[in-house]
Order: sequence, then structure tokens, then C-alpha cells
Amino acid sequence: MKAEHNELLVRAGPGTPMGDLFRRYWLPALLAWELPGADGPQVRVQLLGERMVAFRDTEGRLGLIDEFCAHRGVSLYFGRNEERGLRCPYHGWKYDVTGQCVDVPSEPVESGFCQKIRLKSYPMIERGGVIWVYMGPDDQQPPPPEWEFATVPGPQSYTSKRLQECNYLQAMEGGIDSSHVSFLHSGALNTDPLFKGSKGNQYNLGDKKPVFEVVESEGGLYIGARRNAENGSYYWRITPWVMPCFTMVPPRADHPMHGHFWIPIDDENCWAWSFDYHPVRALTELERQAMEAGKGVHVAVDKDFRPYQNKDNDYLIDRAAQKAGRSFSGIDGFGMQDASVQESMGPIQDRTKENLVSTDNGIIMARHRLMRAAKELAAKGTLPPGRDPAHQRVRSVAVVLPAGTPFKEGAGEALKAREGVAQTSV
Ligand code: FES
Ligand SMILES: [Fe+2]
Repeated sequence: MKAEHNELLVRAGPGTPMGDLFRRYWLPALLAWELPGADGPQVRVQLLGERMVAFRDTEGRLGLIDEFCAHRGVSLYFGRNEERGLRCPYHGWKYDVTGQCVDVPSEPVESGFCQKIRLKSYPMIERGGVIWVYMGPDDQQPPPPEWEFATVPGPQSYTSKRLQECNYLQAMEGGIDSSHVSFLHSGALNTDPLFKGSKGNQYNLGDKKPVFEVVESEGGLYIGARRNAENGSYYWRITPWVMPCFTMVPPRADHPMHGHFWIPIDDENCWAWSFDYHPVRALTELERQAMEAGKGVHVAVDKDFRPYQNKDNDYLIDRAAQKAGRSFSGIDGFGMQDASVQESMGPIQDRTKENLVSTDNGIIMARHRLMRAAKELAAKGTLPPGRDPAHQRVRSVAVVLPAGTPFKEGAGEALKAREGVAQTSV
């Protein structure tokens, strides 16, 4: 990859082409429980290189405004959330949920001074246990997000987030590249309570040379990984990728389905969002407990959402388990297995040095799709795919198909989110 293409893809700050692209979507910003009630404590939010604070005012309205006071730059994280606004702790200037300054105590009200002061602000909405933000131009705001995990009844779904200390792209590429599952995650497939017991696991472990086929979808791509099954048939694991950074892991047996978003915090850190849901039933108590304990795609984190296994402690790598073959990487848990290898590349992977092979077709096509969309948005103002609710109503699929059946045809309607219809899984 050329250095300039890597730069184009990884930089998502204000004014960059990829940053502008991300600013055309509703992005997950906070778990709803982070802002539980009116006039509760505000929280810091850093996304796409911008520092902000989020709060719920006295009326329960959500606000996301510039972190720093317009007077002399104090962080409003330290302010007072009271009487329909956030008041700076230094000299008492106060802002409402739209960022409008509503009080400058030192100035006479008649002067109208405070009306001229306004902090940057972005709209937020709550849906599916997540608070979403739109950071783009008002007149290009898409309809609210329609991802299936966020629209099923609450008892059917669980969402978590963790800090990942690297650029969003190398993290997201792990979600597209399912060829690593037979290696990196191999020890965990048969033991994790949220994965074990699936016939598909045996296909996964039995064929370490999957063949990848990638086809375009309206919102992004479908990545099909083909492994040998019985009598010449194929076990297909189909991963949808939807612009700009949504993927879904193919299901295993009747376990809940899961997937991710990778949202840039700045160019060297991202939020790895992980959701789990079942399309037609509530999660069981055992499943929910496992998710809360950091099993499956979830991870145990501290109060700042940093995993307890992190780069400062080498992710608690267990060399004995690695040696004995109980774990391929020696690192415990799917999420941390992914995070450890991706963070180990450094904060921004130098893609000029990589050597891609056929199993990397999915990430090659995703990069092209992202670059093309960012360039077309910058040059012509063309709005990118993935904003349309129809593009978001997708599902991953695990299915055994006869040889010769193209996976997209064979999976058919199973690739769509259909209310009241269970996932297609092996
Ligand atoms: S710095 Fe905020 S009121 Fe002075
Ligand atoms: Fe993984």
C-alpha cells in the first residue's frame, strides 16, 4: 500500500477526508447507562479527534458540547450540571444542551453578551441501550440507526465497549479477516460458554485453509469464508461489513449473534464496541452473566473502559498455556486475543510493509470502498453507503451449502434482518 493511501485511511480528525466520511453517520458514543438521569454527572467524550462533554440536563435532554469553556478554556468536565445547563466551575459561565451560553454572571443581562457565545455541539439520540452521535452537517443527517441489535427488545440484547489502543482501521480489519479464527482463537472456540457446542466449530478447526470470496453489497461487502464440510459440501461463514465500520461475526449454533463497531477516538486509539443479541428470544441469565464477565466478544474493563489485560501487562500472556496448546496465543479471551495482536502492530500500522495474500481480499476491498467513498464525498459531495436503514438491516450467516452454490445466492434472505425470524446458523 502506498503511504498516502494509508494516511488517507487512518486519519479521521476534523477536516480530513476519512474524518468527513465518519461525520456522515450516526456513531455509537456512549452506553446509555453512562448518562443515567437528569442533572447527573457529565462524562468526557472524545471522538474523531474532538474533545467534548456529554450530559443530561434537568429536563432529561441529551447534550454533547465542546469540552472547553469559551471564556478561558476550563474543562467543563469539572463544571456543575444544574438548572438546564452546564456551568463552568471557574467564573460561572453556563451552557445549555445546544452549546448556547445562557449566563455570564459578570456581565449585565441587558448587554446580551452571552447570546453571542456558543460552543460547538452535536445531536445525540438514545436507541438500543446506546447513545449515538451525529457529528456532520445538519442538512445531511441520516435517519436514526436501524442495526438489528439496537432495535430488538432490550432483554434480547447486550452491548459493551472497550478502549483499544491503536488506530480504528487495524482493529476493524480483524473483524473482516475471519481467517485468523482457526489460529488466534482456536483454543477458545470449544470452551467459551458463548461459542462452545457448535458443529461449525469443528469445521472451523478442521480446515485451516479457508477460501475467501468477497462480494459487494449495497452498504459495503459480504465476506464469505468457505471451509470443507461433509461429502463435498461447504461450510460458509458469511460476515457482512457495512460502511464505515460495522461488522457481524457469523453465528454458532443457537448462541446469540454478535458484532462490532470500531470508532476512532483519535488516530491512535479507538472504541471497540461489541454487541450480542438474539433475534427471537431474550438472553438467558447465564448468557448475560457470561457477557458481563467478559466472555465471548466482551472483555472485563476498568471504570475507564480500559481492559484489565492490556499492553502494560502483556495482556497477562500465559506462556505455559501457549506451550501446552491449550491456547494458541497464550492470551485469554477472544476480545483480548484480537486487541493484543492488533495493538502489537503499533498505534498505526505501517501498511507499506505488509505482504497481503488471498485471505486478505476482504480487507483489500473494504479499504478500496472506504477510500472511494471518502474521495467522492470530498470531490463531489456524494453521500456514502451505509446510511440507509436498509443497508443496516443485515445479518451474518453460518450455513452448509452444496458445492457450486454461490454463497450469496445460497444464503439468500438469511442475510437480512427479519423481525421474528431466527438466525441461520450451524
Ligand atoms: S473559564 Fe469558564 S467561566 Fe471562566
Ligand atoms: Fe478475532
